[in-house]
Amino acid sequence: MKEYQIASLPGDGIGPEVIDATVAVIEAAGKRFGFSPKFHRQPYGAEYYLKNKVGLPESGMRELADYDVMLLGAIGDPRVPPGPLEQEILLALRFHFDQYVNLRPALNFPNVPLPVTLPDGVDLDVVIVRENTEDLYMGMGGGGTGLFSTTLGAERGLYQLYGNLRVEMTQPLDAAFSVGFMTRPAIERVTRYAGNLARQRGEKRVVVVSKANAVPHLYGFWDKVTAEVMAKEFPDLEYSRQNVDAICYLMAMKPAGWGVVLCPNLFGDIVSDLMSGLAGGLGLAAAGNIGDGLSMFEPVHGSAPTIAGTGKANPLAAILSGAILLRHVGEKDAAAAVEKTVRDYLASGRAMPIEQGGSAVTQEVAKNVVEMLLQ
Ligand code: NAD
Ligand code: IPM
Ligand code: MN
Repeated sequence: MKEYQIASLPGDGIGPEVIDATVAVIEAAGKRFGFSPKFHRQPYGAEYYLKNKVGLPESGMRELADYDVMLLGAIGDPRVPPGPLEQEILLALRFHFDQYVNLRPALNFPNVPLPVTLPDGVDLDVVIVRENTEDLYMGMGGGGTGLFSTTLGAERGLYQLYGNLRVEMTQPLDAAFSVGFMTRPAIERVTRYAGNLARQRGEKRVVVVSKANAVPHLYGFWDKVTAEVMAKEFPDLEYSRQNVDAICYLMAMKPAGWGVVLCPNLFGDIVSDLMSGLAGGLGLAAAGNIGDGLSMFEPVHGSAPTIAGTGKANPLAAILSGAILLRHVGEKDAAAAVEKTVRDYLASGRAMPIEQGGSAVTQEVAKNVVEMLLQ
């Protein structure tokens, strides 16, 4: 029987609850489709950080490289100020394993109320392809008062960079800055991924999100390289460019019909939460961080600390991320069956998740999906 060594990293807040649910579903899928998933639970998250003063040690990162694939819940805890946990664990994983695509499909589901009604017979079926290694997520920046200089450094799969930045102001004002950075090969590979996906889906175009009008250095370069790749390698597809502010407006007015939406890292983060809301809830929004090495699957949502332990967390986003994981490792039938089961469960009108106005707590949703998958 085929075995998969899966690193699971439940993390913080609702992470462990939704990962327990997902592990149960993947195990059930293994039973039904004849493969054996072996989960290896990783301890990283706020507890580990508070105890060890490090998010994810180098030794831990090295060990992770041996797994076939990774499943992650969420990182982030009110006991730690925003930044270090997310950067040292979640972003560090994405960068270390060069998971250069953040794939975030948004789909509507039966019986799930939407904030904007879709026209009759129209489904929401949008995929956000988010660049996942650069932009304002470089982690380079600093601050000071009036005069300050900061050493810049970053390590990515494609390169290492060093430098320094010195700022002098005419007034000794408290100030801070972050450096956005993009490279041609990083833009090229994610554009290629979006183009291939658009072709596979039979789309006419790729929609490229930008903001070159206000931030021309960074996003002007993004526009130039994405346009070049599209013209050269995907002449059959239309290149359709939208500013991020405009596309948020247009998506809110008309959520369906966008197809493949290619975003730089920061805008992709924002647009994917918007799309998750338009599709009926963050608790239904699945995602994958995909690279040529270890890939990592996780819901779009975060650790939602205020609902942790209440049963209000909808585990379907994590479960559907598990389905993308299964497709990634080659278990196509199992992936499709998990997705169909989630759809059938919601269509059945059996207790709906609390997020969708029903009464089913996290474990009950998971139990229903497992039961239906094994029927
Ligand atoms: P969040 O996604 O955790 O929560 C946003 C809102 O959606 C909250 O109202 C929450 O209760 C609700 N929600 C989220 N997931 C849900 C689910 N499965 N079922 C029902 N409701 C759900 O975003 P936030 O509040 O900005 O962040 C909380 C923490 O999570 C922060 O520390 C943040 O840095 C972190 N975070 C981590 C990830 C990740 O690990 N991938 C992603 C986003 C945010
Ligand atoms: C996400 C999250 C992360 C991001 C945070 C927690 C760093 O919001 O996965 O969408 O911005 O990528
Ligand atoms: Mn986000």
